[in-house]
Amino acid sequence: MMIGPRMQQAMNEQIMHETASAYLYFSMASDFHAKGFDGMAQWMKAQAQEEIGHALRFFNHINDRGGRVELLAIEKPQKEWASPLSAFQAAFRHEEFITGKIDELVQLAREENDNAAEIMLQWFVTEQVEEEDSVTKVVDMLELIGDSGHGLLMTDRELGQRVAGSLSTSEAGAEAQAGKDGT
Ligand SMILES: [Fe+2]
Ligand SMILES: [Fe+2]
Repeated sequence: MMIGPRMQQAMNEQIMHETASAYLYFSMASDFHAKGFDGMAQWMKAQAQEEIGHALRFFNHINDRGGRVELLAIEKPQKEWASPLSAFQAAFRHEEFITGKIDELVQLAREENDNAAEIMLQWFVTEQVEEEDSVTKVVDMLELIGDSGHGLLMTDRELGQRVAGSLSTSEAGAEAQAGKDGT
């Protein structure tokens, strides 16, 4: 089924949102690098790469269905955050925004009886649950740690273990908690 004009427009906008997500996480990675949190920077770079993968899924879906991808302008992201906690909190709010966009796309697919889009979007519904969960775990961890330099160092080391495609942070949580108890 050829993609309809409304779905094509909405997916072109989503390519922009996913790419803007990558841009935001690259900016957070850069800020982390500048402040010596190389592990958190690594985590954000892996996240940014995943977001590019998300943009590509929409790019391919439009093309596979005879549509035309049109790239839209991306806003300049924030450059600096007050603390690792505030950066990860901002990442969480951003993921909530993206989840809302995915829900709107699902709604549109239903309105348009676009089964191909609806099935393709199911992957994103599941992905957003995982992403919100993984960011929440880091936020919880950083809230526990507070101002403990030792705790931040441990968390940075653990988050640096993340490679692109891996979202497991449960071990990092346990380590951070151990680090906090140790100080
Ligand atoms: Fe995404
Ligand atoms: Fe995301």
